[in-house]
Amino acid sequence: MKKKVALVTGSSRGIGKGIAKKLVEHNYLVYINGRNLESLEKTAKEFNDEVKLVVSDLSDDLNNKQAIEKIFKDEGRLDLVVANIGSGKSIAGWNVDMSEYKRVFEINFFSAVSLATHAAEVMKESGGHILFISSIAGCESLGAPMAYSSAKTALLSYAKSLSKATASLNIRVNSISPGNVMFDGSTWDEKSKHDREAVKTYIEKNVPLNGFATPEDIAKAVLYLEESSFTTGTNLVVDGGQLNKII
Ligand SMILES: NC(=O)c1ccc[n+]([C@@H]2O[C@H](COP(=O)([O-])OP(=O)(O)OC[C@H]3O[C@@H](n4cnc5c(N)ncnc54)[C@H](OP(=O)(O)O)[C@@H]3O)[C@@H](O)[C@H]2O)c1
Repeated sequence: MKKKVALVTGSSRGIGKGIAKKLVEHNYLVYINGRNLESLEKTAKEFNDEVKLVVSDLSDDLNNKQAIEKIFKDEGRLDLVVANIGSGKSIAGWNVDMSEYKRVFEINFFSAVSLATHAAEVMKESGGHILFISSIAGCESLGAPMAYSSAKTALLSYAKSLSKATASLNIRVNSISPGNVMFDGSTWDEKSKHDREAVKTYIEKNVPLNGFATPEDIAKAVLYLEESSFTTGTNLVVDGGQLNKII
């Protein structure tokens, strides 16, 4: 039987890499993606070169179209697309220039909409699964930069609407909202190196399970939703109880 084919955007490191790893372990043919060839090749080596590479800026609509069409042409199928590109790095406060809102929406929202639109186009004959990586910052107001929170909220809303629009094509659409995820070189790693005590206190105060998620925790949620073949339009929160604590 032919392997299931998946594309995970932004997967040379961090959460995307964790998702790609889990999918490879579960016998998927995985396309990993990033803009930097060197770091992508390094990641591929860690997976014994069992993955294929998409070296491309997938915040760009034309690049998304070309990447999706090429994978579908080469493999004859595309079962899963994980829209993982995104970044919470932005400016705090209310007085933020419009250009910053546009930049943050480009990375966190429009890139995912573009990817999903082109993926649905090739999936419409035989079905598939589109999965968005949002954030708990998109579920509630938690103090993250407003441009980021708004973009991630928009993503959750879009995912729900898309799930209804594509259900008759047997295309499932779901989201995952991670809490605080720790890995080498992550934002939390940087914050921790800068002020370990402040980070420790924040986590103790806000996260009932008292710790960080790992990329593998998010990857497990991806696999769960992949195997949950009757689930669409849902948002799976992986946050150690943080949202539950504030509601
Ligand atoms: N980390 C957290 O605590 C956390 C919490 C909640 C939600 N999230 C969400 O989870 C997702 C992943 O976060 P992360 O922390 O793992 O990100 P990250 O560490 O910044 O990783 C980004 C990955 O995406 C690639 N990338 C960035 N821009 C790209 C582009 N335009 N085209 C193609 N590849 C691109 C990077 O490679 P190149 O630089 O080589 O392109 C890298 O492989 C994001 O959507 C984020 O908002 C993260």
